[in-house]
Amino acid sequence: RTIRLDEYRPSDFLIDTVELDVRLDPTATRVTARLAIRPNPEGRADAALTLVGDGLNLVAASIDGADLRPDDLDVSPDQLKLANPPRGPFELTITTIVDPSANTRLMGLYRSNGAYCTQCEAEGFRRITYFLDRPDVLAVYTTRIEGSKAENPVLLSNGNLAETGDLGDDRHFAVWHDPHPKPSYLFALVAGDLGVVEDEFVTMSGREVALKVFVEHGKEDRATHAMESIKASMRWDEQAFGREYDLDVFMVVAVSYFNMGAMENKGLNVFNDKYVLASPETATDGDYANIEAIIAHEYFHNWTGNRITCRDWFQLCLKEGLTVFRDQEFTSDMRSRPVKRIQDVRNLRSIQFAEDAGPLAHAVRPNAYAEINNFYTPTIYEKGAEVIRMLKTWIGGDAFRAGMDLYFERHDGQACTIEQFIACFAEVSGRDFAQFLRWYAQAGTPVVTIRTTHDAEAKTFTIEATQKTPATPGQPSKQPMVIPLALGLVGQDGDDLPLVVDGAPAGPVFALTDETTRIVFEDIATRPAASLFRNFSAPVKVVSDVTDEELLFLAAHDRDPFNRWQATQTVALRKLVADVAAFRAVRPISPEPKLAEAIGRAFDPAETDCAYAAQIAALPAEGDVAREIGENVDPDAIHAVRSLLKADIRDRLAGPLAAAADRLAETGPYSPDAASAGRRALKYAALDLLSAGGAAEGVERVFALYKSARNMTDKVMALHALSIHATPEREEALTDFATLYSRDPLLLDKWFVIQASAPLPDTLDRVEALMAAPGFDMRNPNRVRSLIGAFGSGNPTQFNRADGRGYAFIAGVVAELNTLNPQVAARLLGAFRTWRSLEPERRARAETALRALAAMPDLSPDVADIVNRALGG
Ligand code: ARG
Ligand code: ZN
Repeated sequence: RTIRLDEYRPSDFLIDTVELDVRLDPTATRVTARLAIRPNPEGRADAALTLVGDGLNLVAASIDGADLRPDDLDVSPDQLKLANPPRGPFELTITTIVDPSANTRLMGLYRSNGAYCTQCEAEGFRRITYFLDRPDVLAVYTTRIEGSKAENPVLLSNGNLAETGDLGDDRHFAVWHDPHPKPSYLFALVAGDLGVVEDEFVTMSGREVALKVFVEHGKEDRATHAMESIKASMRWDEQAFGREYDLDVFMVVAVSYFNMGAMENKGLNVFNDKYVLASPETATDGDYANIEAIIAHEYFHNWTGNRITCRDWFQLCLKEGLTVFRDQEFTSDMRSRPVKRIQDVRNLRSIQFAEDAGPLAHAVRPNAYAEINNFYTPTIYEKGAEVIRMLKTWIGGDAFRAGMDLYFERHDGQACTIEQFIACFAEVSGRDFAQFLRWYAQAGTPVVTIRTTHDAEAKTFTIEATQKTPATPGQPSKQPMVIPLALGLVGQDGDDLPLVVDGAPAGPVFALTDETTRIVFEDIATRPAASLFRNFSAPVKVVSDVTDEELLFLAAHDRDPFNRWQATQTVALRKLVADVAAFRAVRPISPEPKLAEAIGRAFDPAETDCAYAAQIAALPAEGDVAREIGENVDPDAIHAVRSLLKADIRDRLAGPLAAAADRLAETGPYSPDAASAGRRALKYAALDLLSAGGAAEGVERVFALYKSARNMTDKVMALHALSIHATPEREEALTDFATLYSRDPLLLDKWFVIQASAPLPDTLDRVEALMAAPGFDMRNPNRVRSLIGAFGSGNPTQFNRADGRGYAFIAGVVAELNTLNPQVAARLLGAFRTWRSLEPERRARAETALRALAAMPDLSPDVADIVNRALGG
């Protein structure tokens, strides 16, 4: 069933308070919900009351204390309907029984390694009790949890702890009260035998907040980084946005069975343990950075998501795009701003641009969905964040902050729409946002084609920009967007020239609003190098006539660090695309000394920003090349050509690479800070090039690093570098790693990822064998994503095997997970998001696999939705 944005109606009833009484039992947990309900003045006067459920089992129901008999009610596992409820306020009490142990979908109340936990976003609360399970119904919750003292010494829910008590006979209870009205998707309950790390934070107004991070016993020492990240996030939101925390306690719980990264339940964030646990012995630099960013993301939701929530799920980007933007800014302030920007743009291009160019493309605010869980996508999150960033670039930082302040002041406690959010910025800036709103409605990555001309006589430099957004499913034609173009014109001395338009200073941000925009810059004596879309000022694909020579000049001189990086990337991407064409036509590949020279600057001992240099050194990914080629893609040719380019660069830079690897060798104790992580990243970039093509000397160096590594980052990066070439060292290191670490599930995951993403012909056989090996568990989403997800979405050559076995394998696993955990199954299918751009034989094989899935009986709505859209149904 498809839900449409234009069919939105306010709820006919509201729920002011919810009193939950949860009696925990592994297979028969009894949930009694007392709901204070009243007709919504904005609803229909004589409407029936329909509460939704999902697989529920009703035990009893009463209104204002009077039992309802079966014929007063229309009940099924999926709804509870009262044809003629009271027309004034009343209290409805409902008792249901749920089986947390049988809940393999991990939505609603389930068990994770023995602990009880919940996941309610988007529609999981209805698997606990019948409810108006929609984000515009806000209620104050009081939750009483009762359970075994021995098995669940810790009993947690949202808000502040109100009461605890001993009931004798190994039973005890806790009552939690959350004074802030919230939608049901933010409800949470956790109960178990957990260890805790505690700290405190004093807010800017002096409120003392108890901080608690709950983890499995024995893992407390891995929770300190998460705790430090909470404090940093709280301080930053006060300083950057004036947002203060609003309860007596803030809790994070790490669980090992979790469908996604983490969840922002009010006062009780539940996390995938992968994004909480870290120690030098068990976590990489990337893990440390992810934990910091995800802790921040969930914490920032307290204002952007919880205090102000979404009216309906079409508005998901209202909280997600904005909160991603906020966590990106946090990381930029905590670490290196240019490096963060480059990483975010790499990520955006590799996952969101890919989605936007394929059959699963959808708008930042979709207008229809069949399964909302399938819309927690890079488009809603990452493109959603880019839209906020453009808004800020377009109206300026001060107006942006004023608009945010107005939004918080005006809409606190409400469930809002994108229009209400945007109205705040229109008001403070005085601008008309009608056209800007197209960013929310039109799917597809706009292509901006730039033509530059210099007129020496008139001393003018003209930029002509033409924008075009390609057709996407359901949207055959598009209208022009407001595209902020931040630019600089770099003169021969490497400095920016003054920007003069119509006799007056102009820019540096120009809004492209028409299909074609011409900007004529005056007083430009000689042709400058145009530095376009500085800091990636819009999420667009740029096709420009700026020459490779000009780009290489910018790579050396542009004062915008993002574009110094981009210039090298563009030259490399142009070359890779040309090389693939030559390779497939069996023509010789031309050498490119200048590119090697640009990349070589990264390894210059004078370069002190190693994290940034590591970004310069990394070539565009195979997926970037595939997207640039666009159609008739041969992943093997891309891989071959990219490997050849790496070997060519290595041959040209052998001396500096070896020197850099030596210079950057680890000496002191491990520290995960950004500068140290940057040095390690640059070292791996050097080693990766040195071992290109499996060159013996490079492989030896990497193997030496593997053996001498004293922290997990070195270990994993060396193992990864070894794993991409079929050498004896590879096998030795993989076996060693398994012996040392495979009892720790999060380290086993790293071992899975490394093997599943190896571009080697025996990878699929290995993945299949590993599924039967100890430690793999189809019910644990982290294991599934590490082994199978990494193969599907992180291994372009082997997923796209010419014989089609990769497609059939992923489709087979999806079929198996379809009933066990439909959400994880649907995610795995994301591997098919670019299948239409493949060369005809692979495309036919991918289609066969998708059609076989489509024909399966009892397909879950989650999987059916992706399969149908992937096939263009
Ligand atoms: N709101 C969570 C976050 O981004 C993610 C929830 C994902 N939910 C889902 N049904 N996939 O922080
Ligand atoms: Zn979020």
